[in-house]
Amino acid sequence: MTEAHENSQKIVAFLCNWCSYAGADRAGGAQLSWPANVHVIRVMCSGRVDPAFILEALHQGAGGVLVLACHPGDCHYKEGNYRAAQRMVLLKRMLARFQVEPARVRFDYVSASEGEKFARLANEMAQAIAPLGPLAMTT
Ligand code: FES
Repeated sequence: MTEAHENSQKIVAFLCNWCSYAGADRAGGAQLSWPANVHVIRVMCSGRVDPAFILEALHQGAGGVLVLACHPGDCHYKEGNYRAAQRMVLLKRMLARFQVEPARVRFDYVSASEGEKFARLANEMAQAIAPLGPLAMTT
């Protein structure tokens, strides 16, 4: 396996501190398993995730990026998750124009009590990117 292929299996997961990170913590506490290639970056709010962060992760060779937010209505900063959701729609549209597979970027909601959902999403993401290999623009 080449280094580029190995890197392409990495998933950068931006987790909002108040809900999704706590959800991941709960998954850990419940000893649920998720792939070791999921690298968590804790942010205060999904609204803090600039699309440039996602592009940079892909540019650096990550195979996928997961952005997890508080559920609608639960964002501690009121509208951060709505903004993040809007940005993700636009970003995914732009990535599609560059033939980036849609499975490489995913946005979803995970609350502090949804450890199982976090583990499921992390596993689904890993399965989705596994067959894709390195991004064409990074090889
Ligand atoms: Fe969690 Fe804003 S605080 S998405």
